[in-house]
Amino acid sequence: MSSEEKDFSLLKRRIYLDRGLDCDQYKENYLKRRISVRLRATRSADYLEYLMYLKRRPEEYKYLMDEITINVTQFFRDRDVYKKICEEVIPKIIEARKEMGSRSLRVWSAGCSSGEEPYSMAMLLDHFYKGELTNWNIRIVGSDFDKNSLKRAKKGVYADIDVMDGMDRARYFQDIGAPDTPAYKLRDDYRYMVRFEEANFFKELTKRRFDLILFRNVLIYFDRRMQSKILSSIAATLSREGFLVLGKSETLGFELREKFEPLYPRERIFRLLKENEQAAGIAGRRKPAGS
Ligand SMILES: C[S@@+](CC[C@H](N)C(=O)[O-])C[C@H]1O[C@@H](n2cnc3c(N)ncnc32)[C@H](O)[C@@H]1O
Repeated sequence: MSSEEKDFSLLKRRIYLDRGLDCDQYKENYLKRRISVRLRATRSADYLEYLMYLKRRPEEYKYLMDEITINVTQFFRDRDVYKKICEEVIPKIIEARKEMGSRSLRVWSAGCSSGEEPYSMAMLLDHFYKGELTNWNIRIVGSDFDKNSLKRAKKGVYADIDVMDGMDRARYFQDIGAPDTPAYKLRDDYRYMVRFEEANFFKELTKRRFDLILFRNVLIYFDRRMQSKILSSIAATLSREGFLVLGKSETLGFELREKFEPLYPRERIFRLLKENEQAAGIAGRRKPAGS
């Protein structure tokens, strides 16, 4: 092992001890790229110097964490995916829930960053399904392990907003900005539709069940082994025939393919197969819609 590799391992160990973030779960190249941004910003010549810097100035952790867990997101990110969720997935869930005699719909935005994703779902359900879902118990959960992101999410104030075609921005957002600083606050009715929670995918996940899980643009940070571990525990929280949505650049690992039907592959929307379908290997045989 070169001395640079040794220092890199030391740094990862330090981060783990200090912050509980298991860096080995991230892809090495990704991690090195993100950390090198902080090396430059702190004028550290190498990992060892940066390690000393972290010891001297623990407040640097905040910037490091933000860098590693880049939380870029936006309202209705990948519009085609929201369209598919709206036109195809939600009606299927409503039908399935009614068949079960239930009037509840549960959505989980796992790795929700500053909240745009779960709030997009809240607006979508309000705009397109308000009538049909009257008297339903709608629960939308947004979770992340990054406290700062969650704080921003709960506040619900954004510089950049967007809505789907036909939606009225003013119904959802109040303009509270100044001429040079745009700021829009999500109105309370929609803010309260989402419950935010702190959760780390490396730890035990919730035991609740969800009909739809948006798990987008998070997997890419982890290595394959961890991806499949996390995906398995996420899959365990899906209700019978629930739906899983991944990010556009993400794929289900080999082990999980037999558990899911790639219903809309272009939009990365998967349906959890019933046990008898899994046993019959239906995922491999059925031609996915939209392909
Ligand atoms: C790029 S954002 C994705 C936001 C949103 N899902 C989207 O697609 O627009 C990735 C989020 O995953 C979160 N994240 C990364 N590692 C995590 C972990 N181990 N546990 C929980 N959240 C994590 C980050 O904090 C970040 O907010």
